[in-house]
Amino acid sequence: MHQFLPYAWFGGYCVPFHESTISIATHALHYGTGAFGGMRALPNPVDSNEILLFRADRHVRRLSQSARLLLTELPEATIFDAMVAFVKANRPSSPAYLRPFVYTSDLGLAPRLHDIETDFLIYGVELGDYLSPEGVSCRISSWTRQEDRSLPLRGKISGAYITSSLAKTEAVKSGFDEALLMNSRGKLSEASGMNLFIVRDNLLITPGVDQDILEGITRSSVIELAETMGLKVMERPIDKTELFIADEIFLTGTAAKITPVRRIESTTFNRERPIMQKLKEKLTAITEGRVSSYEHWITRIRLD
Ligand SMILES: Cc1ncc(COP(=O)(O)O)c(C=O)c1O
Repeated sequence: MHQFLPYAWFGGYCVPFHESTISIATHALHYGTGAFGGMRALPNPVDSNEILLFRADRHVRRLSQSARLLLTELPEATIFDAMVAFVKANRPSSPAYLRPFVYTSDLGLAPRLHDIETDFLIYGVELGDYLSPEGVSCRISSWTRQEDRSLPLRGKISGAYITSSLAKTEAVKSGFDEALLMNSRGKLSEASGMNLFIVRDNLLITPGVDQDILEGITRSSVIELAETMGLKVMERPIDKTELFIADEIFLTGTAAKITPVRRIESTTFNRERPIMQKLKEKLTAITEGRVSSYEHWITRIRLD
């Protein structure tokens, strides 16, 4: 069980987490008609009165866009102001994962997105490493990543996570840590909740935004960092056999940060990952507020 932060944002206010309850008839609970965000809040390692949010503007924008994909409006400023109030109320003293959520709060029966009440809430959990920083084993899932023509994949739409859940459980029950999903065109798409990168001959390769991926914020940050570090990056379809001859493979995500892949199916990889290591060190320094040239990626929330 996670350690929940003591307060939730619920009904427009910060209230004790255990008082933030919803009806069993809530529309989103039955139809998956919600969308969420996932953002890390890190106590500043050198100033306990300050909380650091990584790329809060991007997270807030993606959630506002996700709301639009569910045909409701949730302005970026509304999300941002609530996040700040939420962080100030909770004063997290260890790394936390914040989960803002927009959903159909209506109690009506018909699956629909028109003429329906929606609401917005936030809760948070303490979260260290979501996946082992030493690396994970992956299987290639028997489940296929959904297509954008059947579900808006550019938002973190709750209902879409049935596929992630099936793939993750299939992987774990068959002895692996994670799942890699292919898209309906037979190209690699992403993991259950992370984007995929491979390195071949000093070239960093990741499936493009046309490969039915979630447009990850860590992914785009890694691409930008790699380019400024002089690495060549290609966004293009990745074939299954490329995995087995890659020099390095890693996953990126807010929860997973940068996590190396140490095995896929029965193939074990080299433990030397110089490119991933460089990117990881840089990203960690930025998220901890130690890189002045990337200060624009950090939102500092004062608690005093
Ligand atoms: C399906 C999926 N893909 C990729 C990611 C990585 O995205 P981000 O780096 O924005 O957290 C996530 C996590 O948010 C996800 O749920």
